[in-house]
Amino acid sequence: MITLNKFLSGTLVSLFLFTGMQAQNRPSWAKETPEQKEKRMAWWTHDRFGMFIHWGIYALPARHEWVKQYEKISDADYQNYFDRFDPDLYNPREWAAQAKKAGMKYMVVTTKHHDGFCLWDSKYTDFKVTNTPYGKDLIKPLVEAFRAEGIRIGFYYSLIDWHHPDFTYDRLHPNGPKSKEEREEANRKRNMDNYRRYMKDQLTELLTQYGQIDELFMDFSYPGENGKGHEEWDAEGLLKLVRQLQPNIIVDNRMGMDHTDWGWDFVTPEQFMPQTWPTVNGERVPWETCQTFSGSWGYHRDEHTWKSVHQLIVMLAETVSKGGNLLLNVGPTARGNFDDRANERLEGIGRWMKFNGRSVYGCTQAPAEYAVPQNCFLTYHPEKKRLYIHVVEWPFKSLHLPGYRGKIEYAQLLHDGSEVKFRTQSKAGGHTTETSGADDVMLQLPVQRPDSELPVIELFLK
Ligand code: GLC
Repeated sequence: MITLNKFLSGTLVSLFLFTGMQAQNRPSWAKETPEQKEKRMAWWTHDRFGMFIHWGIYALPARHEWVKQYEKISDADYQNYFDRFDPDLYNPREWAAQAKKAGMKYMVVTTKHHDGFCLWDSKYTDFKVTNTPYGKDLIKPLVEAFRAEGIRIGFYYSLIDWHHPDFTYDRLHPNGPKSKEEREEANRKRNMDNYRRYMKDQLTELLTQYGQIDELFMDFSYPGENGKGHEEWDAEGLLKLVRQLQPNIIVDNRMGMDHTDWGWDFVTPEQFMPQTWPTVNGERVPWETCQTFSGSWGYHRDEHTWKSVHQLIVMLAETVSKGGNLLLNVGPTARGNFDDRANERLEGIGRWMKFNGRSVYGCTQAPAEYAVPQNCFLTYHPEKKRLYIHVVEWPFKSLHLPGYRGKIEYAQLLHDGSEVKFRTQSKAGGHTTETSGADDVMLQLPVQRPDSELPVIELFLK
């Protein structure tokens, strides 16, 4: 039996060999065999589907989590939101129940976003939730509620900080002086060493006070002219600390360590669908795409470009069909709840996952020998040797599977376990019978599309 991990390990082994050059520079604390890495990431590769949560005081303006930057809001004006942050409806057990029902297996929450606001009671800043009218740590009850539902915990931590007095002005900073000279002058009073220390202190809090943390999402690098990259963050130092504190944690690739093969665990295509399984140096790598319901990560009242339940389910199936994970974002309101639009999406996904989750968990891209039928996505469970056909457009009577002859043992609709008969065409069709290639299989489908957002056909392979 081939396991999902075995299936992927070829990838990791060759990545390891190919990047032998970088591997030489691999610090001793980052030594890990491809098998060890595969083991460390096994739950994540299996679970496939997580909830991203973007929450902070930007939920009050409700105009995108970058509102401070987009509207160049001064610290004094931004303080308005801090002074009124009081999410009286906050009940993380409800959130966790919604995530669980939607079939999400892990959760990643913004502990601090670019505005610098901290959702926990950090010792190292006053710009934190415990100093708002709400007055209580948000992270601990959140972590406990999700864990209680069996959902794993991830932390998002912004490398960028538009509040910290030692974070130097750069091309993204909303409040810096305009001219280069003035900026350089102002930056002389800012000491990035202090900020680097601050990040380490805060990560130490986050990675020691909340038990096992399964994923860390550091965000983000923008090297070059007037930007910041791994050197500014001391990414290597950060990662060393992270690995010491949480040896099993899975870390994203946004600290700017893409030039190494040890400074990240997975790549993070955001708000677009990769055409194929993402590669580094020609080799497939673990990937997690993060996506929004509507475009904004933080709660955005007036944004109306919400994706439909159907689109989101297809997105999940397509992601898994290319060997990836989907981290789907919710932006809770300033009152502390998920709004109706988010609830409707989560519930819709949950209805589908209840019956079709089997085509997601433990699944990956199908081997090349299984051609993708028209208007479909394929996912594949290597251990069970099952192929899942996600039928985006329901065809009329027959679904042609090119070259599948002799490969199928049994076929059924996944949502109700009802048999799907299949045949290969022995003779050429006439004016009322179909023709198909000699090696093709034709699935005989009901004319009526099953009542499912995305019907799935489960093939038991020989
Ligand atoms: C981007 C944005 C940010 C969001 C993140 C999610 O990097 O800066 O607002 O948190 O993507 O991946």
